[in-house]
Amino acid sequence: MKKIAVITSGGDAPGMNACIRAVVITAWQEGIEVIGFRHGFRGIVEDLSQPLHPDDMRLVSQRGGTFLKSARYPEFREKATAQKAAEQLDKHDISALVVIGGDGSFRGASHLAQHWQGQIIGIPGTIDNDLAGTDITIGFATAVDTAMEAIDKVRETAEAMARVFIIEVMGRHAGFIGLHSAIASAAEAMILPEMDPQPKLPELADNILQAREAFPDSSYVVVLSENLWPGGVHALADSLSKATGVTCHPCPLGHIQRGGRPNAQDRILSMQLGQAAVHAILDGASGVMIGLENERVVEVPLALTYDRDKPLDPRLVNLQLGLQGVNFASKSDRETA
Ligand code: F6P
Repeated sequence: MKKIAVITSGGDAPGMNACIRAVVITAWQEGIEVIGFRHGFRGIVEDLSQPLHPDDMRLVSQRGGTFLKSARYPEFREKATAQKAAEQLDKHDISALVVIGGDGSFRGASHLAQHWQGQIIGIPGTIDNDLAGTDITIGFATAVDTAMEAIDKVRETAEAMARVFIIEVMGRHAGFIGLHSAIASAAEAMILPEMDPQPKLPELADNILQAREAFPDSSYVVVLSENLWPGGVHALADSLSKATGVTCHPCPLGHIQRGGRPNAQDRILSMQLGQAAVHAILDGASGVMIGLENERVVEVPLALTYDRDKPLDPRLVNLQLGLQGVNFASKSDRETA
């Protein structure tokens, strides 16, 4: 084995740079050359390649985003595009490709595997944490920290003004960021795609009114996962304002959740998985994601990472559901006792 390639693909995630660093250094220690293609699969097709040397990796792990750039590239579903990528990889004499990305990127990697003979290894990099087969994905922990800090800031002004806020967090179609940020920010309510049944408008409105009655001078924060409520956070805030007579302020957090310096957990995870990916290549593995389960590095067939749902931890769901309403109930109980 002489040369491998690495790409970052799909939505960038804090920690991707630290992961590239670990891949490059580990490969060089084994006498393997590494090149990167900028902008993910598109960069392979368009030959946006650059050499990656350990000397250039000294100051990358602290930075968010990805210095290799990323892209969404739906054209990669086409056979001709995947074939073109295979030709480019062969032209560069690449034996193995490391794909750092989420479910869309792993679908792309599986598609490429139908047209290319080299080894393909996936590393889970997405703030959404929605890949099965790994307890955690690169970028998730930092995104939760960022969401929590943002919600804390909204909380301060909400508390000062005794306001109700509906805060929309990312997650595509998964509630991991929503659940973890709701717990960490002690939200009064959460609405996540996995909740069954979904909370209904009258119930949400009743809870707000109950809270206002118990603590008229306090804030109230609802964490809402994106892509869930018809019309999004603005429509929900509007409907709740009408149903309660209390102004409910919409606050979408948006892409700030994807940026920022990776936290220590993400840097460590990234380097662990990056190093393990190169070791897996040397062991002859292909078509697998390198993940982390119960703190152990595991190899999971790529299709099993995106073809099944990854459930939320029910203990954490119950934790938040158990804590979120208690303040209001206990105040009313004290008064009626
Ligand atoms: O995949 C990560 C993610 O940030 C999701 O949480 C979000 O739904 C999506 O990407 C947004 O993608 P884009 O930046 O391409 O609009």
